Amino acid sequence: MEEIRQQFLADLSRARSAKEVDEVRVRYLGRKGAITTLLKGTDFSRLSPDERRELGRKLNELKAFVEEQLVRAAQAAEAAAAPQVGAGQRLDLTLPGTSRRLGAIHPVTLVQMELEDVFQSMGFMVLGGFEVELEYYNFDALNIPPDHPARDMQDTYWLTNGMLMRTHTSANQVRALERFGAPLRAIFPGRCFRYEAIDASHENTFYQLEGLMVDREISVANLIAVMKALLARIFGREVKVRLRPGFFPFVEPGFELDVECLLCGGAGCATCKQSGWIELIPCGLVHPRVLEFGRVDPAVFSGFAFGLGLTRMAMMKYGIPDIRLMNSGDIRFYEQFPAAV
Ligand code: FA5
Repeated sequence: MEEIRQQFLADLSRARSAKEVDEVRVRYLGRKGAITTLLKGTDFSRLSPDERRELGRKLNELKAFVEEQLVRAAQAAEAAAAPQVGAGQRLDLTLPGTSRRLGAIHPVTLVQMELEDVFQSMGFMVLGGFEVELEYYNFDALNIPPDHPARDMQDTYWLTNGMLMRTHTSANQVRALERFGAPLRAIFPGRCFRYEAIDASHENTFYQLEGLMVDREISVANLIAVMKALLARIFGREVKVRLRPGFFPFVEPGFELDVECLLCGGAGCATCKQSGWIELIPCGLVHPRVLEFGRVDPAVFSGFAFGLGLTRMAMMKYGIPDIRLMNSGDIRFYEQFPAAV
């Protein structure tokens, strides 16, 4: 055993590379290696129990010693093979490293995250909702009478069971009022579906972010203050806006908040249909009938609601000229956005 041990140490000291260390390992621990042969070739039956125990212990010790030396030698050989910065040499830290490809965050998600942040800082809850919705919450409870054009088969994807794909996030309004009552501050980001012709600014699947604030004495002044806060945050600068009267059965009065088209600076382009303005945030004061549907007393409470076009907001913010890029699945498009915020 001592002979083998000395021979092993001598062999190992000559091994210069990981490959040579491995060759030494095979020579001693391989199937026909010196230690393996010794273990197999020893006839323990001729020994007394005490001798057997003593010999077994020594053989195991030798094997453990050899294994440990081999691991150390392999590590040392590997370290020696790594590039070294020697005297007189400099490590160039500016050389590009090996880059790892990270997934990017979708521009709609980026804007959604930013908006959630603004609204949470103003005490709004962020709530979900259902993409497959009851006709009641999408239309009836929003004071949209059965003959309203928004109910046309053209606009709505109906399911065979009588339910529908929600056409707007406003479907969350009465659900939230029923569940939480007043006062209430909540936003509802989510995907909406409409059966419509697709062009540079219309998709059949797009995102909205609904907002609802109900309390005592809520007025148009509160609405405008909140709209200004969110626009300043998203665009990081003052953007030109205009407020037009707008009709939605679930608000009274109703408005359309437009922003100047940031893609063409108001000159007119395909995205703004040459008008210079992008319709971005329809809004208004919650109709008393809607509060009643939500079991909130309109004599005590009032509120505002808005339904921001999240996909269009992302287009404005990042200068995306065609909405179809959003759902295109084109990696070259997505890669241009940050991988983390
Ligand atoms: C609504 O959906 C109302 N529920 C908004 C609302 C909420 C009004 C609360 C008052 C109070 P509208 O159909 O205009 O309104 O859509 C709202 C926004 O969603 C639009 O301004 C637009 O930015 C976006 N949008 C609508 N249709 C599409 C589409 N096909 N593709 C992309 N974005 C769309």
